[in-house]
Amino acid sequence: MNVRTSQINYLNPTLIGLAASMLLTALVVIGSRNLEHFDSALFGYTVASVVAFGAIFFRYALWLQRPATRVYFKRGIQLFFQRRKFAANTVDSSKTLAKNLVGQRFIFKRGTMRWLMHFLIMWGCLSAAAVTFPLVFGWVHFNLEGEMGYRTYLFGFPLTVLNGRSVMAWIVFHALDFSALMVIAGCAIAIQRRLRDRGAIAVQQFLLDFVPHLLLIAISVSGLMLTASSLWFDGYMYSFIALSHQAVVIMTIFFLPFGKFFHIIQRPASVGVELYQSRSKEMEQAACPRCDTKFAAQMWVDDLKGVVTELGFDYTLEDGTMLQDYCPRCKRIMRGLAYSGLPNKAEPVFYGTRAGEE
Ligand code: HEM
Ligand code: HEM
Repeated sequence: MNVRTSQINYLNPTLIGLAASMLLTALVVIGSRNLEHFDSALFGYTVASVVAFGAIFFRYALWLQRPATRVYFKRGIQLFFQRRKFAANTVDSSKTLAKNLVGQRFIFKRGTMRWLMHFLIMWGCLSAAAVTFPLVFGWVHFNLEGEMGYRTYLFGFPLTVLNGRSVMAWIVFHALDFSALMVIAGCAIAIQRRLRDRGAIAVQQFLLDFVPHLLLIAISVSGLMLTASSLWFDGYMYSFIALSHQAVVIMTIFFLPFGKFFHIIQRPASVGVELYQSRSKEMEQAACPRCDTKFAAQMWVDDLKGVVTELGFDYTLEDGTMLQDYCPRCKRIMRGLAYSGLPNKAEPVFYGTRAGEE
């Protein structure tokens, strides 16, 4: 259920979004050494990134206003910074990150091809982003040193020298081409599944399930065409292809906060949920008022009661307890008993009423 529109506060998310955009602008100026290493031809990419960065923070702040999300977020942070458990929490959260974010184990359970599809798309995009954003913002640049040495500069600070003829240099300079091939292969697997899998066909929507892949394919193909143009066709149509690449990249960046791609930012928040779940086993447990079974942490039950009340539901029973106080088994039994009494009653029995209803 959505939070009622009247409860949504747009002011704070707007301020947070503006602050994020300003921070990124400042980092671009500082990181490129007062725009000395900033390529003005890439201004369009930078403006789009700054706007989208703010929009991502705006959307995230709005999302955190949902009662359940807010509770999980607050508890995740609170539990993580518990002084006595900080080390254990860091280990647990790193494990979750490695398993679910890096290895994507939860998708593996759905099938090897699905896992491969997502692995290729995700790591293709992340590696491309790791190369392009720092270059576009002027945070990284290369200077020719000697005959074939390229010195890398990060935020204006000199790093190692790369031999231009080495295998390493070839890999670095073609990193975007590898990313593009990974993304195209991953999207091909995803589209093939979406065209064949009956379960997927029944529920998928064009904007949500095809547009993201089409955008990624358009970016990757135009990127590969840039390489082909400069390597084999003496730069034929280079500026037109570069403009097309820029156009689809900007469209995708703007799509980030409001479409399917928002899960990239949303999903990692599950680390806090997993932490809450694992720490809740060590907390004081709530006992079911009907069978006395300890079934969940008291804190979790209280949080749940707070969330349902905030959402406008009132599950208070005649004896003053709330439906959420009962264990799942007793809830099912109580519901069954209530239904079995229905035919004898004029009025249907319901566990509670929506707030504001008589
Ligand atoms: C750059 C990063 C990422 C990109 C570009 C990306 C892209 C995508 C795309 C295009 C799909 C749709 C695939 C389909 O057609 O079914 C998808 C699905 C999905 N993504 Fe991501 N994703 C990224 C990161 C993440 C992260 C960090 C998580 C979670 C930790 C995640 C979780 C998922 C899940 C659960 C699905 C559904 C997979 C399935 O159908 O089995 N993604 N992602
Ligand atoms: C899925 C993500 C992406 C892939 C696979 C990709 C791929 C490519 C490839 C293969 C090239 C040609 C490289 C070369 O010939 O040396 C390229 C060029 C470029 N890409 Fe991307 N790219 C992606 C995302 C982005 C993003 C997010 C940006 C900006 C923030 C970006 C900005 C650029 C720029 C500025 C160039 C050089 C084009 C020019 O000369 O004007 N790309 N990309």
